Amino acid sequence: MGRRISRCLLAAASLTLTLTLPPAATAGEPAARYVGSQVCAPCHAGQHERFMRYSKKAHSSKNLRLMAKGLSDQELTSCYGCHTTGYGRPGGFTDFTATPQLADAGCEVCHGPGSVHAASGDPAAIKGRLTLADCEPCHNDPRVHSFGYKPLLNAGAH
Ligand code: HEC
Ligand code: HEC
Ligand code: HEC
Ligand code: HEC
Repeated sequence: MGRRISRCLLAAASLTLTLTLPPAATAGEPAARYVGSQVCAPCHAGQHERFMRYSKKAHSSKNLRLMAKGLSDQELTSCYGCHTTGYGRPGGFTDFTATPQLADAGCEVCHGPGSVHAASGDPAAIKGRLTLADCEPCHNDPRVHSFGYKPLLNAGAH
């Protein structure tokens, strides 16, 4: 546990240098915002139920809340980019009080902000096909390469 956490602290330090934000929406299109996994549940009940039950991501803020007391504000903030949804992006997580629905790493860390898709149900308005590049901002460990095939790309998702 201790080693893992210090690895996370290291990851957090390098994240500030490597985190890249997606390009802004093209003018004219409504920019999608983050809405939280609960909003997906009515239309994707199966994916939502399995995600909540089996994925550690769905509970990824739990560890942060437990550890918060031992961390400086700056250290805690450095965890948000990976352990919450959409931190630093439009409509994304800001803090536990204002945005509790985005406190865990939810559906939208992989599929992207879902407000436009959730309002219309249009599959073209959400990212369906994913690649390793979608995982690397958070899984920047050498082990990310073991995600290089479909069964593991889906592991922990739903
Ligand atoms: C109002 C209903 C509705 C809501 C809410 C909704 N979806 Fe969908 N979603 C659909 C429909 C309809 C499709 C197309 C048929 C299908 O694949 O089930 C779809 C398809 C998808 C796809 C596959 C896209 C593709 O390229 O094939 C993904 C991924 C997805 N939704 C994710 C989400 C996420 C994440 C949320 C929450 C942010 C969400 N959906 C909320 C209705 C909805
Ligand atoms: C660059 C992304 C990233 C950052 C930043 C980050 N983490 Fe993590 N963290 C992860 C990933 C990915 C895992 C899951 C590792 C795995 O299961 O292989 C994880 C796992 C954990 C775990 C669970 C360990 C276990 O044994 O299950 C804890 C606790 C944790 N992180 C705490 C933190 C704290 C506290 C911070 C901020 C100081 C932080 N993390 C910052 C990506 C990150
Ligand atoms: C760890 C990343 C990840 C997370 C988190 C995630 N998904 Fe997915 N999702 C995937 C992958 C990978 C696929 C398969 C895409 C492909 O076939 O290329 C997928 C496919 C889908 C599809 C298309 C139909 C299917 O089941 O294959 C829907 C709908 C969907 N996800 C909804 C959701 C919803 C709702 C959540 C949250 C409850 C969620 N996803 C969370 C990675 C993720
Ligand atoms: C926004 C950051 C983020 C992104 C993007 C992300 N993950 Fe994760 N993932 C995490 C964190 C944080 C954990 C650890 C949660 C914990 O243990 O508290 C995790 C855990 C996992 C796990 C461990 C098992 C489990 O049940 O959760 C797998 C497998 C995984 N992610 C796969 C993927 C794949 C595949 C992708 C890309 C399609 C991806 N992740 C994208 C943050 C992310």
